[in-house]
Amino acid sequence: MTQPGGHPATGADFVVVANRLPVDKRVRPDGSAVWKRAPGGLVTALTPTLAARSGAWVGWSGVPESPGTDSPGTDSPATDSGERPVVDGIDIRPVPLSATEVEDYYEGFSNSALWPLYHDVLVPPVYRRDWWETYVTVNRRFAEAAAESAAPGALVWVQDYQLQLVPAMLRDLRPDLRIGFFLHIPFPPVELFSQLPWREDIVRGLLGADLIGFHLPGGAENFLALARRVLGADASTGPVGVREDFGTVVHDGRTVRVGSFPISIDSAEVRDRAAETADRAARIRAELGDPRTVMLGVDRLDYTKGIDVRLESLERLFADGRLDPAETVLIQLASPSRERVDSYIEIRNRIERTVGHINGTYGTVGSPPVRYLLQPVPRAELLAYFRAADVMLVTPLRDGMNLVAKEYLAARDDLGGALVLSEFTGAAAELTDAYLMNPYDADGVDDAIAAAVTDPAEVRRGRMAALHRQVMDNDVDQWARSFLDTLAQVRR
Ligand code: ADP
Ligand code: F6P
Repeated sequence: MTQPGGHPATGADFVVVANRLPVDKRVRPDGSAVWKRAPGGLVTALTPTLAARSGAWVGWSGVPESPGTDSPGTDSPATDSGERPVVDGIDIRPVPLSATEVEDYYEGFSNSALWPLYHDVLVPPVYRRDWWETYVTVNRRFAEAAAESAAPGALVWVQDYQLQLVPAMLRDLRPDLRIGFFLHIPFPPVELFSQLPWREDIVRGLLGADLIGFHLPGGAENFLALARRVLGADASTGPVGVREDFGTVVHDGRTVRVGSFPISIDSAEVRDRAAETADRAARIRAELGDPRTVMLGVDRLDYTKGIDVRLESLERLFADGRLDPAETVLIQLASPSRERVDSYIEIRNRIERTVGHINGTYGTVGSPPVRYLLQPVPRAELLAYFRAADVMLVTPLRDGMNLVAKEYLAARDDLGGALVLSEFTGAAAELTDAYLMNPYDADGVDDAIAAAVTDPAEVRRGRMAALHRQVMDNDVDQWARSFLDTLAQVRR
């Protein structure tokens, strides 16, 4: 219910706005709905944050619906069995998207234009005006849903590249709110960003926020340079690398703060739950025939993740005799993602061909060296895989942070295992004791994986001790607190 002044009579003091809800809706053949945990690092990071603060989460249910059927801001009561579930005390506010909007806004503009543009143009971005127009329409719907959900003076935290116009749209609707924006993926240099035909609109959209956060100082610096270049805005070149020091942009008579906030995980929860999986971890190794070395990859199936990089390296290590296929197993857990987008179909085909080739060449009928699952794995099972793995392979060509690396480290309070980590992840900036490698340097990848397998146990353990401590000392609660405390200090 909205009062004449434009403020809802009731509403949450803290509202997260993200493309996805923390739960995806699955519609059974009989038409009833069940809700399942949604994929990706954003949900992993924000669910504990919001559960601890009790607030509302505005987002899409993951399935197409007709606008109007489940509209945000309805007075229908929240339930855990029907259309509006309450998850961990979070008030879930679904934003409906039609099938065409899913194609044009989500698969189109978000994941065929912005995603590749922001990830080093690993595949060519596709820029289409009709997709852009739907992106604007859908962003406005999210802004309206957020305006309806927020109490007077509330903190609203808008997430990620799918919703970059929401901050300015929301400010127009509700100037009383404090608005934060966090980007979960890399932010590209001006030279790449300038490809975007609607670059100015995006910059103006983001500048509707009071505080704009990136994982790394480099992303914040890219944004400040862009604001200066595109809008001629007064963007300071002040330090952006330390959480308390911010760059600023003066825009429309307001000062927007820009800073870096490296995201993390609920480290203690992962550590404690993983410690309970020792039996299952031992059984996993036994089911594999107790090989000397178990390697593990865990990713959404995405061309940014470098699943092909690690498979091709494994094949070279077998061919060169540096690893023995009879004693080595790689488990690759891949979660299906954006399955109707061409570049995702292509990377899936490529990965499946390479897995078949390695197993055909180096396997036996009873023991193929690569075990590949294309399905999300239940959380407890995933933690058991972490505990079972001697070497974790995180090899993206570009990744904003990569929470899988942090989950693996938190899960290893036994200080076993080793982490091979691409320098092209945000996580590499913090996890400097990992076996770091450049995914574009084939020899370097091979050497890093070989070292992680063969280094003396005390060397591996020493690295793991430092890495485990790093992740335990820097958890998602600190990330959220540092962002939200800064946002709360904004003077109206
Ligand atoms: P992104 O946000 O790009 O998907 P992250 O590594 O930051 O990448 O986060 C991925 C999240 O999804 C992690 O919490 C990870 O555990 C989870 N995940 C990835 N692949 C799977 C899988 N096959 N099964 C279950 N969970 C997965
Ligand atoms: O972290 C990047 C991100 O795109 C999130 O915004 C998203 O929730 C997650 O990855 C998973 O992607 P999707 O929502 O497209 O399945």
